[in-house]
Amino acid sequence: MHLKAALSIAALSSGVVNAFPGASDHHHQKPGPGDYRSPCPMLNTLANHNYIPRSGRNISIDQIVNGIDEALNLEPAGIRPVAELASTTSTTGIPGTMNLNDLAKHGVIEHDGSLSRQDVSLGDNLNFDPKIFAPVAEILFANETISIATAAQARGARLLAAAAANPQFNFTAREDGFSLLEAALILSVFGDRVEGNAKSKWVDIFFREERLPYKEGFRRPAETILAADIRSLSARVGQAA
Ligand code: HEM
Ligand SMILES: *[C@@H]1O[C@H](CO)[C@@H](O)[C@H](O)[C@H]1NC(C)=O
Ligand SMILES: *[C@@H]1O[C@H](CO)[C@@H](O)[C@H](O)[C@H]1NC(C)=O
Ligand SMILES: *[C@@H]1O[C@H](CO)[C@@H](O)[C@H](O)[C@H]1NC(C)=O
Repeated sequence: MHLKAALSIAALSSGVVNAFPGASDHHHQKPGPGDYRSPCPMLNTLANHNYIPRSGRNISIDQIVNGIDEALNLEPAGIRPVAELASTTSTTGIPGTMNLNDLAKHGVIEHDGSLSRQDVSLGDNLNFDPKIFAPVAEILFANETISIATAAQARGARLLAAAAANPQFNFTAREDGFSLLEAALILSVFGDRVEGNAKSKWVDIFFREERLPYKEGFRRPAETILAADIRSLSARVGQAA
């Protein structure tokens, strides 16, 4: 092939790859052997796209807050306290930093009854677990979009199954609060910050591949998702149960 033709094909294909802002820095890449990941599918996803360092090691609170802002347009003032709480699990010895796997520490944010992870007393509470997620996905992705009612239904089914399987199941108002916030985050980031209705396809890719579904049309939300939006959606998921 002529050099000129080869170059123009290279330019074309890189144009396709760079279909979203900052694509060259933020392409999706699975973690390598020395990289750490967390029980949070979104922090893992952001590390896989280099919105937070791909290593998942010695990550600062600011890096988490800024990465979430840059990729997802979630109000930083609402995210910062959660990142600060997460940093209390840190084993780095460096103030204000954490390793992503530190976040698997049970009882800080990590809780029983996760949608996609095993309870800590029954096994691996950090990595995606296809057996845990399958029955959740069946409910969650029954329609093209996920309504508040559907999110509540999927969460409710998972909580019943977890409670039945785990003699040490611990789910107080505190755990319920985190679980509801997580549902609200999914609904708003992959749907509408007021009404939810997240795109099932996008949420499926997010959980299973820990990838932002840019290729499938996902873009950073145009309007900032406010902490108040998350609180409101979370309350509505709780009421729909
Ligand atoms: C400061 C930022 C964040 C921190 C420190 C954090 C940390 C965590 C942790 C420790 C868990 C595990 C809880 C469990 O046991 O299930 C979790 C779960 C989760 N996080 Fe995050 N997270 C953050 C931001 C986000 C954002 C922005 C999203 C947006 C979609 C998100 C989505 C989720 C979801 C959906 C789960 C539940 C996963 C499941 O049930 O299997 N998180 N997060
Ligand atoms: C975090 O940084 C410190 C200081 O640079 C280093 O000694 C340590 O090995 C790092 N931790 C990880 C898990 O990479
Ligand atoms: C799917 O959508 C239909 C029509 O809107 C609705 O009746 C049904 O309850 C939905 N299913 C789930 C699982 O949300
Ligand atoms: C259950 O969770 C609550 C709230 O996080 C905590 O205070 C309590 O110690 C936990 N109980 C057990 C038995 O782990």
